[in-house]
Amino acid sequence: MKLLVTGGAGFIGSNFVRYMVRKYPEYQIVNVDLMTYAGNLENLKEVEKAPNYKFVQGDIADREFVNGLFEEEKFDFVLNFAAESHVDRSITNPDVFVRTNVQGTQVLLDAAKNIGVKKYLQVSTDEVYGTLGETGYFTEKTPLEPNSPYSASKAGADLLVRAYHETFGLPVNITRCSNNYGPFHFPEKLIPLIIINALNDKELPVYGDGLNVRDWLHVEDHCQAIDLVLHNGRNGEVYNVGGNNERTNIEIVKTILKHLNKPESLIKFVKDRPGHDRRYAIDATKLRTELGWNPKYNFDTGIEQTVNWYLNNQDWWENIISGEYQQYFQKQYGDRLEVE
Ligand code: NAD
Ligand code: TYD
Repeated sequence: MKLLVTGGAGFIGSNFVRYMVRKYPEYQIVNVDLMTYAGNLENLKEVEKAPNYKFVQGDIADREFVNGLFEEEKFDFVLNFAAESHVDRSITNPDVFVRTNVQGTQVLLDAAKNIGVKKYLQVSTDEVYGTLGETGYFTEKTPLEPNSPYSASKAGADLLVRAYHETFGLPVNITRCSNNYGPFHFPEKLIPLIIINALNDKELPVYGDGLNVRDWLHVEDHCQAIDLVLHNGRNGEVYNVGGNNERTNIEIVKTILKHLNKPESLIKFVKDRPGHDRRYAIDATKLRTELGWNPKYNFDTGIEQTVNWYLNNQDWWENIISGEYQQYFQKQYGDRLEVE
């Protein structure tokens, strides 16, 4: 079996590549990544010399590159993780989100159709469903009502995947997961940003009233879910993946402070994100009952493991926050953290 994993140098993609290289030594795994600010080959040190793994730098929206690669490699499975993934960046610069997330997906779908892959799996997000009030859960039947340029671009991609299945008979699955956390999480996202700022005794920016709710899924449990859907998912189906760990943002921040033994005085409430979704919560019954998915982390064990990982891997995040990240942080938080 030959697998294409796109975006395999990012947070979830690199966790998935390491998981698959270890679990399936008989599979050939090709990782294609453009190496944007979010791509980091340090994430893949453990597997870079494995005989069943290969890295190719490239852009999923570059049709010529993608077609050439598919002709050469004749993939059996395609798993598309590559994306622009940060909501805040999609508010300041939506163009690249449409290019990578929508056009890139379409280029991959065409190439997958042309060579006749066994399955195309699109890694999507619960954010395509929009926002929930205080009650209820997203199911696979919930209408798509995305609210940010990021989630709109992911919803556009999902609809293309659906259309290539219905129109061209391409074998597909879509997974829609909640917020992932765990090792190798890029520090622009809430959990790693709070851990690293707290370790550096810097202010912890909490948007709005801090009462927005996210469901947190450990990245290894997500990898296990994708593995199950890849091998056993019914053709054409969508599967929600959720951690059953709903928390307000302020609860998350206070939990991390407790683990690090840092004071709550570091917390700073800042101007809210425009269009900020209030609550996400996932009903993952279909994945559990049809495919026997059984997550191994609860949030207490998962967050403890994650905080420890950041404590033990200081070089990894120091390399990141000393580069382009500085400019991003200044642009995103500069005013917000200065104004009372
Ligand atoms: P990430 O931003 O950490 O990684 C994205 C990777 O894609 C990077 O390595 C980047 O270099 C690469 N990439 C970007 N544009 C590319 C292009 N044009 N061609 C090839 N590679 C490109 O993202 P992540 O958090 O690992 O998310 C992976 C996938 O999971 C995304 O599709 C995202 O929408 C989805 N998702 C993430 C979360 C989460 O909590 N992180 C939740 C739900 C869904
Ligand atoms: P984030 O990690 O960006 O993921 P998403 O927006 O895809 O859910 O944000 C998670 C939650 O944390 C979201 O409600 C926004 C909030 N947040 C903050 O309060 N402060 C921050 O600095 C960041 C990055 C996020």
